[in-house]
Order: sequence, then structure tokens, then C-alpha cells
Amino acid sequence: MKIVKTIEEVRAAVKAWRKEGLTVGLVPTMGYLHEGHASLIDASVKDNDRTVVSDFVNPMQFGPTEDLESYPRDLDRDAALAEAHGADLIFNPEPAEMYHEGFSSFVDMTVLTQELCGLSRPVHFRGVCTVVSKLFNIVTPDRAYFGKKDAQQLAVIRHMVDDLNMPLEIIGCPIIREEDGLAKSSRNTYLNADERKAALVLSQAIKLGSELVKNGETDAAKVTGAMKAHIEAEPLAKIDYVKLVDAATMQQIPVIDRPALCAIAVYIGKTRLIDNFFTEDVK
Ligand code: PAF
Repeated sequence: MKIVKTIEEVRAAVKAWRKEGLTVGLVPTMGYLHEGHASLIDASVKDNDRTVVSDFVNPMQFGPTEDLESYPRDLDRDAALAEAHGADLIFNPEPAEMYHEGFSSFVDMTVLTQELCGLSRPVHFRGVCTVVSKLFNIVTPDRAYFGKKDAQQLAVIRHMVDDLNMPLEIIGCPIIREEDGLAKSSRNTYLNADERKAALVLSQAIKLGSELVKNGETDAAKVTGAMKAHIEAEPLAKIDYVKLVDAATMQQIPVIDRPALCAIAVYIGKTRLIDNFFTEDVK
């Protein structure tokens, strides 16, 4: 496995693979890889002849008060994990390689990005859509892999690919959890011991909500109300949102009468964590 820093090196590797008629999968990441990322690499290695992992903490998707500086980074550890899972290339550019001086083009989206995380993170999805479009143009993959944990991100990227006729397939992969239920996230490393215990309210609320839906509850307010009550009982937790939305448009729905996403974002101390379930997965 090779680690490269420049767009030119990625293009040269992909060109050589294409000459041999090989297919290419892309796993876009911001590094600090965990088993959630490993499952995306596994899926790509299974589906494609070659797998590229991008490892880039994208400044454009962080707001001015967010954790860009403190976001965990460890390229050696990432490389060991990616290699063990069969990746062929890591693309680890510096910000200046991705955003040259005078950079002034953006990929933006309305509607889907104006709900859920888009409300509390106004610049986030413009940064995600822009960097992911760039990665698609650099790597030109046949398939790209994203986790369902970032469910809104997955919906936004699917929509972007459809709107802009991007010639690749987007694959969504299941949430990977710790043994006690906490969804794997690079941000879990911010939690101290008390916060780590308190963070379990997220997966507990997801379980509670998905059981209500499984047992036939269709009133969105009843589902989210029960989940909110559970989270609010934890003193270290502060709800950003607990919402039920149409799975395709990300707009809130009062009745679960179509494929829906139940998504939550909760601050545990200063750390903002997300979790979700798709109603279609629990019925
Ligand atoms: O999900 C992430 O880690 C990032 O948002 C992504 C897709 C790699 C874009 O920077």
C-alpha cells in the first residue's frame, strides 16, 4: 500500500489501474480510522479491484467555532489499519493541495441541507459536497463508500450525484457500534470516563425509538417524545435535535407513512454526537 500526498500521484496510480482494466473504489475519510471506516474499506475491497482511502481533515466543512484544530489525526495508525483491510492507496493531501490560493468554486445544495445537522452546522454540507466532488474528480472511482451513521451526509451525497450526473455508484454501509451500543466515531475520543457512560443515552434512545416503530407506532411526535424524555434524564446530555424526517428529502414528517429517518444529535459535555435509525431497517 502506498501513501501519496498529491493529486498528480493519485491520478497516475488510477491511470495505471485503468490501463489494466481494473475497477476502483473510494473510501473518503477524515482519518483517525476506526472499525466503522474499516467496514467501508472491507466493502470496497470486496466490490472493487483497487481501493483508495482518502485521509483528509477538510477545513471547509468545519464552522469557525468547531473542532478543526483538535480533530484527532494519526496517519501511521490509519495506514496500518487501511493496509490490514486491503486498501491499495492512501491519499493524504495538505489543505493547500486541495484548496490552492484563489480557490473559489463550491458545490452547494438547498432543501436537504437545511434540516438536521445543516441547522446547527450552516457551512458543513457545502464543505462536504465540495470536497467529495473534488475527490470524485481526482480518483474517478466506480463506487464510493459512506457510513449510514452520517445519514444526512449519505442522502446529500446521493442527491448530489444524481443532480450533477456524476458517473459512480454510492454505497451506504451499516453503523458499526461499540459492544455497549455507542456508535463508533472519531469524536468518541473526546469523551472522559463520565461522558463515555453518559453517551450511551444516544444508542439507548435509538433502541427505544426503533422498538416503538417496530411495534407499529406511526405518530412521529410520540416516537421522538419518548426518545427526548430518555435523553433529558441524563444530566450530561443536551439535545441538539431528535427528529423524524422523510428519508429522501430530510424534511420533517408528522406521521411515519413512508421510508423515514429518525436522527438525533446530542451534546455530551462539549462533544456533539449523532446516531440514527432508518424506519425501513427496523420494520
Ligand atoms: O464523513 C466524513 O468523514 C467526511 O464528511 C467526508 C465524507 C470524508 C468529507 O470530508
